[in-house]
Amino acid sequence: MMILIGLMGSGKSTIGKLLASRLSLSFVDLDDIIVQEQGKSIPAIFEQEGENGFRALESQALEEVLKGQSTIIVTGGGAILFKQNRDLMKQAGKVVWLDAPPPVLATRISGDANRPLLLGIDPLEKMKTLTAERNPLYEGLADLRIDTDLVNTKEAVDTIAAFLSE
Ligand code: S3P
Repeated sequence: MMILIGLMGSGKSTIGKLLASRLSLSFVDLDDIIVQEQGKSIPAIFEQEGENGFRALESQALEEVLKGQSTIIVTGGGAILFKQNRDLMKQAGKVVWLDAPPPVLATRISGDANRPLLLGIDPLEKMKTLTAERNPLYEGLADLRIDTDLVNTKEAVDTIAAFLSE
């Protein structure tokens, strides 16, 4: 199994899908599983159940997915917040962190209505805060880090594919 971690806008979904198709591996996106299982959007879950409610669903979905057969797993940016989740990911396989500087992330995600953490907040300030809070966690967990500001999508996919075949 290979698990992609990183902040919103780091390119996890795009790169995960491309990698899966390149290597003919099965792919799953944790956010999609949660949306399917709950029958509502991520913003609706945050609104009705709060961030804590979403985090509980996310932890459950992660546990289920890691027991399954999918090979490439894309996680939401906050899936690394609980130690239990980090331990599960570490045990399950290789963890790849997609990183980029806050201004780049902010540009990529600004105006995205599907991201409740950005509601009514300056995207750059939010990405700076999340970077400060979460980068130590991503760093502690990752087997490989790729700065997606410095490479294009194809190069990122090539680097991960080479790493997985080592
Ligand atoms: C979140 C990231 C989102 C989604 C939710 C919360 C976060 O996923 O899980 O909006 O806490 O960073 P992406 O990283 O795929 O945008």
